[in-house]
Amino acid sequence: MATHAEYEEIFAEVEAPFAFVDLDAMWANAEAMLARAAAKPVRVASKSLRCRAVIDRILAFDQRFDGLLTFTLPETLWLAEQGHENLLVAYPTTDSDALGELALRSVANPDGAPIVMVDCVEHLDAIQSVLGAGAAPVRVCIDVDAGWWALGGRVKVGPKRSPVHTVEQAAALAREIERRPQLLLAAVMAYEGQIAGVGDTPPGRRLRGASIRFMQRRSAPEIAERRAAIVAAIRDFAEVPIVNGGGTGSLELTGSEDAVTEVTAGSGFYAPTLFDHYSRFSLTPAAGFALAIVRKPSPRVATALGGGYLASGSGDAARLPSPWLPPGLELDAEEGAGEVQTPLLGPAAAELRIGDRVYMRHAKAGELCERFNSLHLVEGSRIVDEVPTYRGEGRAFL
Ligand SMILES: Cc1ncc(COP(=O)(O)O)c(C=O)c1O
Repeated sequence: MATHAEYEEIFAEVEAPFAFVDLDAMWANAEAMLARAAAKPVRVASKSLRCRAVIDRILAFDQRFDGLLTFTLPETLWLAEQGHENLLVAYPTTDSDALGELALRSVANPDGAPIVMVDCVEHLDAIQSVLGAGAAPVRVCIDVDAGWWALGGRVKVGPKRSPVHTVEQAAALAREIERRPQLLLAAVMAYEGQIAGVGDTPPGRRLRGASIRFMQRRSAPEIAERRAAIVAAIRDFAEVPIVNGGGTGSLELTGSEDAVTEVTAGSGFYAPTLFDHYSRFSLTPAAGFALAIVRKPSPRVATALGGGYLASGSGDAARLPSPWLPPGLELDAEEGAGEVQTPLLGPAAAELRIGDRVYMRHAKAGELCERFNSLHLVEGSRIVDEVPTYRGEGRAFL
């Protein structure tokens, strides 16, 4: 991992603010994730990268990075137009224009068109409503709730996504899909966000860490068993070639399940701060952004221009960006990271002068790319490319 002085040398000619990806760190993360995924193919989560050039480099890096888990249907169709195949849209859509376009793609390429996510009959109806009589089948994936239920279902832990939780519910939706000749069941996905996306060693919160570990120790075997039972029940009457699960934080657990044919990873390439606190693995920070120090409100405070790039989610302090380099900087508890300025405190702040730059990390992965038109790609001690983000290509999907 480079030091502040090394990054300053690398980026000497680039004006702040700017964002970058350190490819050496990213490839170290890629290798580490492949090693954790128990020889399974890894579908790449596009929402956590939001830069086509980076996605393409990852897919070319190793054959096991295979296909994309995309986040909206318009994004997916755009990627398909660029020649991407093996696309699975992770979240359901009600966008009838995009569904209409998908229907056309499915006619042109029945086995290669994107697969869309469904978890209820309304989703099936929405897809069918755009299909003409002679349309080719649209491939769908059933999203199974991988949440952990305790106390007879009175406590439900996990993202509030699909209503399909039990084997019976999953099999019933699969049978409904089988009854509809214009739909083809191509995949089942069950993403255990309460394991994959929740660090089990939150700093300064020992009790919370212990309760997260308690929950994850019970949730992992429960979802492994239920996922296998769901896949077995559906395979009694349908093929379902793809069974997807997992995320950056659960690769070794989900990857080791026989019923799972592939895992997903995205955030682990950039390794944002929300992935700093897991006991099962550690990653190397690979993406960051630089801000210029433009003010010294007092000798011990250095104030940067901009920086208020908060991550989506629960709205707690962990969603703020973190000062990274030089080490020894802290956000101000009152101001945090602001729209136009971010005051920096801590021992290193006194050393910073107007015109210096500081390096920050985002809490989440792909959202960084919604703030910058391009990413500078670094290899060794030099910039090897500057590539547009989705935003830089004029594409804002969510
Ligand atoms: C359906 C699904 N699968 C997998 C992931 C894992 O992505 P990442 O590796 O970026 O955490 C996510 C992230 O939210 C997701 O929604």
